[in-house]
Amino acid sequence: MGKDVIVACDFASAEQTFAFLDKFTGRKPFVKIGMELYYAEGPSIVRQIKARGHKIFLDLKLHDIPNTVKKAMAVLRNLDVDITNLHAAGTTAMMKGALEGLTREDGTRPLLIAVTQLTSTDQEAMERDILIKEPIDQVVMHYAETAKNAGLDGIVCSPLEAGKVHERCGQNFLTITPGVRFADGEVGDQKRVMTPAQAKAIGSDYIVVGRPITAAADPVAAYERCVAEFCD
Ligand code: C5P
Repeated sequence: MGKDVIVACDFASAEQTFAFLDKFTGRKPFVKIGMELYYAEGPSIVRQIKARGHKIFLDLKLHDIPNTVKKAMAVLRNLDVDITNLHAAGTTAMMKGALEGLTREDGTRPLLIAVTQLTSTDQEAMERDILIKEPIDQVVMHYAETAKNAGLDGIVCSPLEAGKVHERCGQNFLTITPGVRFADGEVGDQKRVMTPAQAKAIGSDYIVVGRPITAAADPVAAYERCVAEFCD
């Protein structure tokens, strides 16, 4: 795996999701299912999208005591997703528990990715609310190294951080980067953005793209443009 465009299917229902996915008659996009859709439709949405031939990143960002996360991951492993994730803030013990739970009897498992500090958390909120005083970029790098040492496969990060994460954690440690916009497109609420071509140049392994594709007049053309810029 590697170098693919993941489409964030941030829809509220299966109906809307399938109306969107039905447009893709050629290459089937790698799909990200987040909390909104998963909590609305339950695990069957994962099975249905998988049955249509899509790869799946199940973005549920688990964070609980190690035993609970291990057991939850043991359930998720049966959904046969390709990538899933958790919060690195849950500590090494939680990440190791998650890996154990996720690993099937035959030794295979989905890729496990860590969320570091959410991009919605800034330095001020981090210091005030969770009493972390170090510079946020150092905190993100520390979480990346902790995730790598726990045995995880990569992290979610800004495309601007992907190069540095590879320097610190190795080229094989995966970077999955949202915050992607076309050069001539709307930025919306994303603050730090890159084009698919820039994300490729800086070494992102996967880009996660939502509204530039889901809200485009021609979603398939927008997806193909992302693939041409990022993968080819
Ligand atoms: O529509 P847009 O391209 O901004 O969607 C980006 C997707 O990536 C959304 O599903 C969003 O929740 C997710 N994401 C993000 N920034 C992060 C982590 C996840 O935008 N730091």
